[in-house]
Amino acid sequence: MPVVDYKDVQAMVRFGFGKMTEACYYLVHVKNAAAAKEWLLRAPVTTAEITPSLRTALQVAFTRQGLEALGVPQKVIAGFSTEFMTGMTCDPSRSRRLGDVGANSPGKWRWGYEDKVPHAVVMVFAYPGELERWKQSVKGEFWSQAFQEMECLPTQDMGGREAFGFVDGISQPDLDWEQLRKVSRNCDQLTYGNTVCLGEFLLGYTNEYDRYTDRPLLDPTEPGANQLLPAADQPGKKDLGLNGTYVVFRQLRQDVRGFWQFLDKATGSARLQRYQLAEAMVGRTLGDGAPLVPASRSLIPGVGNNGDQAARKQDVRLNQFTYDSDVAGTACPFGAHIRRANPRNADIPGGPQGWFTHLLHILGFGNKNVRADQIASTRFHRILRRGREYGEKLSPDDALRTAPENDSERGLQFLAVSANIQRQFEFVQNAWMMRTKFDGMTEESDPLLGNREPVPGCPFTNTFSLPQEGRVRQRMMDVPQFITVVGGAYFFLPSKRAIRYLATIGA
Ligand code: HEM
Repeated sequence: MPVVDYKDVQAMVRFGFGKMTEACYYLVHVKNAAAAKEWLLRAPVTTAEITPSLRTALQVAFTRQGLEALGVPQKVIAGFSTEFMTGMTCDPSRSRRLGDVGANSPGKWRWGYEDKVPHAVVMVFAYPGELERWKQSVKGEFWSQAFQEMECLPTQDMGGREAFGFVDGISQPDLDWEQLRKVSRNCDQLTYGNTVCLGEFLLGYTNEYDRYTDRPLLDPTEPGANQLLPAADQPGKKDLGLNGTYVVFRQLRQDVRGFWQFLDKATGSARLQRYQLAEAMVGRTLGDGAPLVPASRSLIPGVGNNGDQAARKQDVRLNQFTYDSDVAGTACPFGAHIRRANPRNADIPGGPQGWFTHLLHILGFGNKNVRADQIASTRFHRILRRGREYGEKLSPDDALRTAPENDSERGLQFLAVSANIQRQFEFVQNAWMMRTKFDGMTEESDPLLGNREPVPGCPFTNTFSLPQEGRVRQRMMDVPQFITVVGGAYFFLPSKRAIRYLATIGA
């Protein structure tokens, strides 16, 4: 296995820059390709090496339109994935699958649609009080000649919570940087684990199928290809994707007042019940984000492998669980946001049970837990979340007050890293979040993200089910839309070597 050259990987694949609480995302159009390349050549892009003294960071990613604007040949661009090439908004059936209809329709977006698709996103991060200086330093002498700034999307440090008030960023996959994880093409994984093959998040390495994800591989005679390394699976080709990946960016506006006021009405203004209902929708407590299901008795591989001892302990407490002990969904509803987003199942439901049970499963018999069979295996559909909140913080109690006339917008700059946008982000968003038939339920989609739009065969999608112990389930009706998409695009996050290739192409 090739050892990962951290100097070649952009840092956000490995770090969330947690201490750099100030950040913003410049969406830019390339105005002058030559100047843009000069800027790119000098850009102090932060890499994934561990640098304890780091106080600022810079990351850069491009859309397909951005690569074209830099002059990357079409035959090279053709090697990127279809969804990256098509983009988030250019195909109505993709928009439908992502739930981008009704109030979420791309035509209503502020950015990411038609001529508002950015060419690049330039992400800057800094310790408190250091962002403004860092922005100027990043821009340098070529910025204004090179780029037209479309937007500078702000972020807000809400103290580790998202805008509704829940702790954010608790569960993340554990990337197998050392590439020790063994997966076989012919053998099922019988238990849920949190460690995921590096190739799920970084191009040029093997993924959970023990294969290499498609990426642009160049003929060595292609101009500029000599700056790139050979592909591990096809050494005769130069790998433009190696140590790069894709970033999904969606700007999601949250109706924080609408959320808490709806819950307040639904619970007859009883504070405790209001919080409990919100917790059921998310799947974690409002206090410290503890899961609603008890910790798993068996150790989950990959939980608690990061950080110091205290962080590890916290990680285990908050993430050492599966839904195996809650097959009726009475502790954590089947439709709760985190249960949809990561059902924490394995290839064979119910865990290791010996070869006979395994055989029965393969033949389609003997599964007591029919629900579990209906959900695809989690390990092929993980995403690495790197988003940040934006707007003014509003506490759950303040959200019950009437909005002032000049109430500010708040929400999430949702960023997700994955090597395969379709199999990872798009699958989670479509099959698990938006789908109105999920885990045996109908007429509901994700309680936070659902657009509540009718779909063929399902005129109502605005319910939320709460299974009850020994009783018929409780069902909430008329759940409004709480989250609206206001922008988005798919980006390629190149390696340092690929950045050099982009900066010198055609020179
Ligand atoms: C404004 C929109 C959103 C809000 C308010 C939100 C909120 C949350 C919260 C509170 C958690 C639990 C804490 C944590 O583990 O970080 C969570 C987890 C998660 N969310 Fe979201 N989320 C949003 C959008 C999305 C989207 C668009 C996706 C993917 C399509 C997504 C996927 C996930 C995943 C994969 C987890 C971790 C689940 C686990 O591993 O247990 N979220 N989200």
